[in-house]
Amino acid sequence: MTVTDTTADTDTLTDPAGLRAAELEEQVRRTPERFRVLTGDRPTGALHLGHYFGTLHNRVRLQELGVDVFVLVADYQVLTDRDVAERLTEITEGLLLDYLAIGIDPERSTVFNHSAVPALNQLMLPFLSLVSVAELGRNPTVKDEIAHSRQSAVSGLMYTYPVHQAADILFCKGNLVPVGRDQLPHLEVTRTVARRFNERYGEVFPEPDALLSAAPLLLGTDGTKMSKSRANSIALGADADETARLVKGAKTDAERHITYEPETRPGVSSLVLLAALCLDRDPRVVAEEIGGGGAAVLKRTVTDAVNSKMAPIRARRAEYAQDMGYVRSVLRAGNERANEIAGATLDEVRGVMGGGL
Ligand code: TRP
Repeated sequence: MTVTDTTADTDTLTDPAGLRAAELEEQVRRTPERFRVLTGDRPTGALHLGHYFGTLHNRVRLQELGVDVFVLVADYQVLTDRDVAERLTEITEGLLLDYLAIGIDPERSTVFNHSAVPALNQLMLPFLSLVSVAELGRNPTVKDEIAHSRQSAVSGLMYTYPVHQAADILFCKGNLVPVGRDQLPHLEVTRTVARRFNERYGEVFPEPDALLSAAPLLLGTDGTKMSKSRANSIALGADADETARLVKGAKTDAERHITYEPETRPGVSSLVLLAALCLDRDPRVVAEEIGGGGAAVLKRTVTDAVNSKMAPIRARRAEYAQDMGYVRSVLRAGNERANEIAGATLDEVRGVMGGGL
């Protein structure tokens, strides 16, 4: 297993989306200037190591290849499954620090947020007219999120947010969207919206491709999926001591000998995987080397690996945190660019729709 190449995973290579990803990778390498990437995060909590290895490092990789990268802080999307967006400014600033620390370069990439780009949001209305209620109800990811929502009633925003996501992607005519498997149904909605809009009003939007990443599944310290909204993750901004404490408290099992068996030993294997990702090594080899050393050696290995891998990122993060004025200006400049582009796209949309809309 290599962790730097997001497509070279045997599972993904055997299915159509995985094959397409390999083909797209090839095209991105050859002609990066033909691609505009749009990705985003909901500001519901701090970004963590699962995000880093799953998506964040891939954004920087695409930026370095010369692709035009847009990173969205999807603030309106926070309201899909809760009544209020808590600590929004603080969490958003945390995300900005994370982006800068990992190497997102505001000279080349655009960081912006939903609520600062009105024309993007206006696109959602014509887009909503292109999909049926039945189609919205069939989205498996939305169904799953409704099942896990903290709200007693399902809001219209929850139901329709994949269409909002279509606006996120299409406002800037993004044609490549790096996603995990759970986001594939949403990308299908975006493709449908683009196709129907073009059929009805004339060719305006690209039909964006999903760039499926073989994101490794890291579990949180409690043995369930690492998640920003559960208290089970190691944040990018955590320091060395906090990392040691969190790893120490992570769930393992009663068997002393360390192995890499994700199916039967999820807790232990996730720790092995985390160390392997940080060390850029095969998790099976890492497990073998620890072997009879047991959980104590495993946890020490993980702590050391995470702390040395993250040290430069954390140092940069701390440095940027000294200059929040600059950090905020990055978002302001990104929003300015996003507003220009969204305004132009909305003008174009209104032009082809005609009839006073
Ligand atoms: N829904 C995505 C998530 O939860 C965030 C997101 C919002 C997004 N808009 C997007 C991702 C557009 C890709 C493209 O992670």
